[in-house]
Amino acid sequence: MSIGFIGAGNLARAIVLGLLDKEVVAASDMKCVSGSGTTASSLSAETGIGHSSSRPDLISEAQTLVLAFKPQHLDTISRSEGEAASGSLVISVLAGRTLQSLSEAFPSARNVVRVMPNTPSRIGKGVSAYCFRDAPSDTDRDQVETLLGALGTCYEVEESQMHIVTAVSGCGPAVFFQFIDFIAKAAERRGLEPQLASKLAIETGIGSLELMKQSDQLPSQLVDEVVSPNGVTHALLTQLERDNWSGILDTAIESAVKRSIELSKPQ
Ligand SMILES: NC(=O)c1ccc[n+]([C@@H]2O[C@H](COP(=O)([O-])OP(=O)(O)OC[C@H]3O[C@@H](n4cnc5c(N)ncnc54)[C@H](OP(=O)(O)O)[C@@H]3O)[C@@H](O)[C@H]2O)c1
Repeated sequence: MSIGFIGAGNLARAIVLGLLDKEVVAASDMKCVSGSGTTASSLSAETGIGHSSSRPDLISEAQTLVLAFKPQHLDTISRSEGEAASGSLVISVLAGRTLQSLSEAFPSARNVVRVMPNTPSRIGKGVSAYCFRDAPSDTDRDQVETLLGALGTCYEVEESQMHIVTAVSGCGPAVFFQFIDFIAKAAERRGLEPQLASKLAIETGIGSLELMKQSDQLPSQLVDEVVSPNGVTHALLTQLERDNWSGILDTAIESAVKRSIELSKPQ
């Protein structure tokens, strides 16, 4: 497998470190290029993968290309660079860039894959959703799953579902961070020292999510297990429901889906 990374920032680094850690790709089989060259040389120095100062050279050498720059940089791919990816598998993590726009940039790629990763990918605990332009060969599917496996777990979806995925797993980390922050602030307002409030909220979040992951029960069953009639948790959840928090989250997800649709339309 020869993998070329166009973009060598946070996400490319997470993929490279994950692949090396799992020993599924050798450093000598990977190369990167970046805009100014700064991040590419740092990633190369840190991980031992190659780096190139020429984007066209890297594109023509790699059998698999990972697009890991900012979404707007797709428009800087020239016609000749796009053609140079002839027969390659092109994997994009660019938020909002459709299979159609990726195929227009790389018209002779053997297949194109659109991926929506999320921030916990940086520590190998992400969840990604992906879709192929064409029905993939077993080898290409394996390769994509190996690559995304370096970031955490991954699931195949229809491209039409990507807006929902963006709202749920793409934006999700911000929702959880915000939620923990609100709980910590509520504890502070009632007299806990900020550091303790923050630690209690964060550790409760981590422990509860880990328990949910390890449990065979549905999240709603776990809620029922914690609540006793007329108890303290019951009081808290009843107030949340009175304030319609399930409705608030539903509307918020709807706004994110709508915004994702708006952003995907040509500006
Ligand atoms: N990080 C995440 O958790 C996450 C989650 C979901 C989606 N994504 C997607 O992943 C992509 C990369 O995000 P990131 O967080 O890794 O960004 P980042 O850390 O800012 O890295 C961007 C990289 O793009 C390079 N670059 C800039 N201009 C370029 C050009 N013209 N040609 C080639 N490379 C160029 C930069 O190089 P220099 O700085 O050296 O110039 C840098 O290596 C984004 O499209 C984002 O939508 C990321």
